[in-house]
Amino acid sequence: MPQEFVAHGGRVMICSRNTSKLEAAAQFIGGAPGSVETRVLDNTDESQVRSFFDSIEPGQFDALIVTALGRAVHGPFLNLDVAQARELFEGKLWGPWYCAKYGAPKLRDGGAIVFVSGVLCRRPGANCTPLVAANGSVEALTRGLALELGPRLRVNCLSPGFFDTERFDHLAPEKRQAMLEATGDSLPLKCVGQPPDAGEALYFLATNKFSTGVVLDVDGGHQVRQYALPNDLHARLKREREAQNEQHESNDVKKSCE
Ligand SMILES: NC(=O)c1ccc[n+]([C@@H]2O[C@H](COP(=O)([O-])OP(=O)(O)OC[C@H]3O[C@@H](n4cnc5c(N)ncnc54)[C@H](OP(=O)(O)O)[C@@H]3O)[C@@H](O)[C@H]2O)c1
Repeated sequence: MPQEFVAHGGRVMICSRNTSKLEAAAQFIGGAPGSVETRVLDNTDESQVRSFFDSIEPGQFDALIVTALGRAVHGPFLNLDVAQARELFEGKLWGPWYCAKYGAPKLRDGGAIVFVSGVLCRRPGANCTPLVAANGSVEALTRGLALELGPRLRVNCLSPGFFDTERFDHLAPEKRQAMLEATGDSLPLKCVGQPPDAGEALYFLATNKFSTGVVLDVDGGHQVRQYALPNDLHARLKREREAQNEQHESNDVKKSCE
């Protein structure tokens, strides 16, 4: 995603918790020498975030963009461990909160903060309640800070739909592929997003001088995807299901007579 900024002649500092991944990302981003700086940072640790921004001279950067998030817990709400849901909020809400609190004073006048929420907030899926709630909290933080930090800074939020990123690398390759394909097929645009699509949107939110308090959906139409099957297809599938059930019942009767 930082490529978009480098492609526009910008200089970026990228942070994550892992040195080797950062080095690989810097190589991948490319650009002129000195365009990409890397720093190790765990943004869920408030004292690390404070020291990180203490080390940055004011007025060096125009934008602060917080995309970081570790693994997200999923599961049926009633069975979910509350501690795991709290951990998700550490990454999704408190990380951006710390970054904004200590980073905002270091940004140039006219600069911007951009957070990332996600489509599940306004189009939930079953077993996703922690992300639904955490994404909503980031969008609310965006609106609160847009008011409070303006007019010196603008604050916006990108709400992505499904994107093909390393987020799903923990899945077995066939399962990952099947999940991304099935999700893509359900969308009006018939595909999931690619990181450059999000990069363009982040660049817009960071640089457009008249946008603040905005939540921008970049989701391939996820929010308008079909939520009920067409009547004829629904009726056909229902008939097939009933026929299957009847077949099973008659097999059961035959078995019990034998
Ligand atoms: N991909 C999607 O389909 C999708 C959909 C909706 C919303 N989103 C949202 O979009 C954002 C980015 O998602 P993504 O798909 O790009 O995720 P990703 O591929 O998993 O990348 C997340 C990045 O954050 C870093 N990170 C994780 N925890 C960190 C921490 N505590 N401090 C610093 N860096 C940390 C990771 O690097 P290290 O492990 O090296 O730290 C990794 O590079 C997230 O907020 C996610 O919820 C994604």
